[in-house]
Amino acid sequence: MTEPIPSPRVKSPNRAVRKVQISSLGTHVPPRVMTNEDLEKKVKTSNEWILQRTGIRERHIADPDIATSDLASEAARSAIEKAGLAPSDIEFIVVGTTTPDHFFPSTACLVQDKIGAAGAWGFDLGAACSGFTYAVTTAAHLVASGAHEHVLAIGADVMSRIINYEDRTTCVIFGDGAGAVVVSPAVDPELSIIDFAHEVDGRGGEALRMPAGGSRLPASRETVDQQLHYVHQDGKAVFRFAVRNTVEISQRVLRRNGLKPTDVDLFVCHQANRRIIEKAAGELGVPLEKVVINIERFGNTTGATIPLALSDGLADKRLKKGDLVLLASVGAGFTVGSVLLRWAY
Ligand code: UT7
Repeated sequence: MTEPIPSPRVKSPNRAVRKVQISSLGTHVPPRVMTNEDLEKKVKTSNEWILQRTGIRERHIADPDIATSDLASEAARSAIEKAGLAPSDIEFIVVGTTTPDHFFPSTACLVQDKIGAAGAWGFDLGAACSGFTYAVTTAAHLVASGAHEHVLAIGADVMSRIINYEDRTTCVIFGDGAGAVVVSPAVDPELSIIDFAHEVDGRGGEALRMPAGGSRLPASRETVDQQLHYVHQDGKAVFRFAVRNTVEISQRVLRRNGLKPTDVDLFVCHQANRRIIEKAAGELGVPLEKVVINIERFGNTTGATIPLALSDGLADKRLKKGDLVLLASVGAGFTVGSVLLRWAY
């Protein structure tokens, strides 16, 4: 490193909270596609079972030399460009990820360097499949407080690195991808982030986890032999919790803003299983034509599912300026989150 690190651009805190918006969205998935038929060659499964039980037809898988920061940086560059900004305009980067390149340095540091966001600071956020909603809420507060103008909230994962491709109960579900949004002061206060709700229920920790590789059970020959560096899950417990809590957190954030589920123009929830999304939307009372479901093409990309779904909503013009958008997520932990906003562009 030859250049001196620029002095941080944290402004003197302006305590007057201001409205904030999502100014742009960028996504990236690795080009290689793994179909259900490809998985039929690896484990005892079938295209029919996977489609019927999960709604997934294919997922994107990163090549061996690609890591989370690579996908995240592509998504970030795209978001920055679409916002009409330069990388140097970004003052803060938060990356929601379960598959960081390393324990340290953080993926946020790697992204900052790769995209050339000189002077930005940031960190990784561990909320599993709620990584994106948690990142958006974190980013929004740093703009709302007046501390920063333009910040990046990213959800990115290379789940294929922690999946056991001999375990049919998990390997059919996950895929790789990244999504990033630029969060900025609202141009029109009516078109802004309205509210959020988050909670964790740590009692669910056992239901979905990677048992080894951390300080509890460091990597060793034995942990590798016992395949403890892979995703282990109690699928049924996660399914039940996901449906109940997607509904509950969505109802809570709507109710306290005087809104009904039928007021929502677009419901974009974490894509873990088509049946979870349909059941949650049904119990909530949001008609399916207002629900984005794109799990068929991407599988569960953990931190990236919501931005990938928003991107599809924009592409097929189901997501428009002024729409009331409800984001909702449930992930390992358990983590639960929702963000309510009026789409700004
Ligand atoms: O973001 C959070 C990430 N995780 C989740 O969201 C997971 C939530 N849970 C789920 O999505 C579902 O529970 C799964 C997709 C994981 C499993 O679906 P399920 O309908 O709950 O299946 P199950 O576990 O009840 O298994 C039914 C049968 C079993 O066979 P037996 O015991 O009835 O003979 C499984 O061994 O299906 C079998 N099975 C499979 N068969 C073919 C499990 N996985 C597969 C497979 N292909 N891939």
